Amino acid sequence: MRPPSRRRRIDRAASLEDVARLARRRLPRVVRDFVEGGAEDETAVAGNRQAFADWDLLPRALVGVERRRTKVTVLGHEIELPVVLGPAGLARLAHRHGEVAAARAAARAGTVFTLSTGSSCSIEEVAQAAPGACWFQLYLWRDRALVETLLHRAAAAGYRALVLTVDVPCMGRRERDLRNGMTIPPRLRPSTAFDVLRRPRWLAGLAFGPPITFANLVGAPGRGTSASELGRYTNEELVNPGADWETLAWLRRRWDGPLAVKGILHPDDARRAVACGADGIVVSNHGGRQLDAVVPALRALPGVVDAVGGRADVILDGGVRRGTDVAKALALGASAVSIGRPYVLGLGAAGEAGATAVVELLRAELDAVLALVGCPDASRLDRSFVVPAGGRPAGSAPDGWSPRAEPGRADVR
Ligand SMILES: Cc1cc2nc3c(=O)[nH]c(=O)nc-3n(C[C@H](O)[C@H](O)[C@H](O)COP(=O)(O)O)c2cc1C
Repeated sequence: MRPPSRRRRIDRAASLEDVARLARRRLPRVVRDFVEGGAEDETAVAGNRQAFADWDLLPRALVGVERRRTKVTVLGHEIELPVVLGPAGLARLAHRHGEVAAARAAARAGTVFTLSTGSSCSIEEVAQAAPGACWFQLYLWRDRALVETLLHRAAAAGYRALVLTVDVPCMGRRERDLRNGMTIPPRLRPSTAFDVLRRPRWLAGLAFGPPITFANLVGAPGRGTSASELGRYTNEELVNPGADWETLAWLRRRWDGPLAVKGILHPDDARRAVACGADGIVVSNHGGRQLDAVVPALRALPGVVDAVGGRADVILDGGVRRGTDVAKALALGASAVSIGRPYVLGLGAAGEAGATAVVELLRAELDAVLALVGCPDASRLDRSFVVPAGGRPAGSAPDGWSPRAEPGRADVR
């Protein structure tokens, strides 16, 4: 009997972990490690997940949940569910259609796709291929002329919002990538060749498509044309340790649309970003890929929400794998969550169908959670729906829970 096709296997996935398992079988180790890895000991990666377990949901009964609503509005867009696809560079490593497939999956689901500056499909290619709303993620490149060019291209192509990532003053030390000798474009080394050759489908996708590179930089004057020249340029220029609040103010003056700052964890930084004109804060530790041993994103969320005080949308990013995670983040004050690895692994499992499966699983799980916690409208989740998880020693409640936020006090936000 023939094994079921990948498409049929993805249709049978019952959770994001099922999708990830399919991807792990299909992708070579060097790519799996690039996607799933984190900085140093990867305690921040684990911490992002653990932080969700620090909270339990506290349901209400007999609320009447026949009609449920997962729609929310974030950065001025109404989206069908409070889950956006965050920026993830070089998505074509996971599937030959890369960011185009992810953007199509987001559009199909009625949500937003965020294109990374370091994408392997260009700004224009994604805008043309995907019918839905896209946001553009920018790094604070040293070269301001390049930043201005990217901003013009994103605006001309119709990107609706800008997400400025501020947590990469230098590259995080991802030891899996260092050990694997991960390069752009991917190069076979004796230590990785055998594993790659055992995945002919992935290899064929790589071999028959255009070379994987930083597509937004191709053709930029003086930057070379080969993937390795662009890779070297990106490594040198993408990080900008000199960037400061003045750089944010400079950028704000150059982008008219909604602007979110991604990579904020401290309440004072959130306040300052809002004072500089940010419309959104993405509470994020870059999925644990930059600084290790850093505060989990969810733990930082309530402090940022309180500091922002409703003056900007707050998006939680990092470790979201379940509908219950989405509900907890919204209950703690997020307008929406953003995901990274789950949809990249979805691409790895089955391209656009895999990314779609990830979003649809989260939608189905969240819909069930709304019914089961007795809150039919996702945008009305608040701190009355969560309590610190049982078993925590007395006096060690997670940040954000206070007696004011006790069960039944729906007005505390
Ligand atoms: C393969 C990969 C590439 C990424 N590239 C970028 C990027 O180019 N820009 C950025 O701001 N964040 C990037 N991120 C971080 C994600 O946007 C997000 O912060 C993180 O993945 C969230 O954690 P999660 O993977 O647990 O959902 C990347 C993440 C992954 C997994």
